[in-house]
Amino acid sequence: MNPIAKLFQSAKVFTWDFMLVLVNTFTPNLKSGEVVAQGHPGYKGKWPDYQPPKDGDSRCACPALNALANHGILPRDGKNISFKEMGRVVNESYNFAPSFCFFVPNYSANFMNKNYSKDTFDLAELSQHNAIEHDASLTREDTHFNADQSKPHIPFVEELLSYATGKDSEGRALLTADDIARYSAKRRADSQANNPEFSLETIHKFFSSSNNSTMLRIFGGRVDDLRTMLVEERIPEGWESVCQARKGLTMASFNRTAMTVEKATTKFLAKKD
Ligand code: HEM
Repeated sequence: MNPIAKLFQSAKVFTWDFMLVLVNTFTPNLKSGEVVAQGHPGYKGKWPDYQPPKDGDSRCACPALNALANHGILPRDGKNISFKEMGRVVNESYNFAPSFCFFVPNYSANFMNKNYSKDTFDLAELSQHNAIEHDASLTREDTHFNADQSKPHIPFVEELLSYATGKDSEGRALLTADDIARYSAKRRADSQANNPEFSLETIHKFFSSSNNSTMLRIFGGRVDDLRTMLVEERIPEGWESVCQARKGLTMASFNRTAMTVEKATTKFLAKKD
């Protein structure tokens, strides 16, 4: 796609997203238990059978997409997925707005040099280094240390969860935006110090804080749920997205959280110097 067409496409997506913000503002939230619509996997918290990946299955650096394959919502082998299918199931399962669910799969098709409407991909292709995947992740070792981005590095996940300082009304542990930012700053400092190939361009800082913000905006920072998602890449029984907005989590709303997390990460990094 030429740069002018790309610009028009982005303008269309941002306008669409803004419309969804308006609908979310003026319509009531979805009811608890009905964030996943009737007839779809996960309705009233009933998720299809979980099976961890088998040898030869394709998985990627994204815990949330791997979980969809582990539950058979995406193909269990993680292969031959269309970009539209990925967007559709992310919308239906996690309640991200359809604007986000077009934008990110379309961005993925572009970096893979594939056609969004016609081509398919295997999950592993999403882990192309320095496309969306980047150094200093919270759940994966840097590519320099481990080229296989398909599995979580459990010591990082446990360390991240141990940073939780929040509590919900029933006393259960919660990760706050500052907790996540503090751990992200630690990962960035450690990677920079130890990885001779370390890089984190501005766009990857933004992807890093966006991915990290899903833990707040979709999982509500709940440590128990995040442990299941990040360690086993499994959706907890009875779980639903904490985003109950009728049209889902818009890019406008999500990006505000990502900016807050990125600013806090930069602040904690500066304190380390
Ligand atoms: C819409 C399609 C999506 C694509 C193409 C995608 C892609 C990716 C990629 C490539 C990474 C690796 C980034 C890194 O190097 O750390 C990643 C990480 C992550 N994603 Fe996704 N993702 C998508 C949707 C989601 C959704 C819906 C959620 C949450 C419900 C989510 C949560 C996460 C989390 C928690 C990480 C881990 C961050 C880390 O290890 O630092 N993603 N995603």
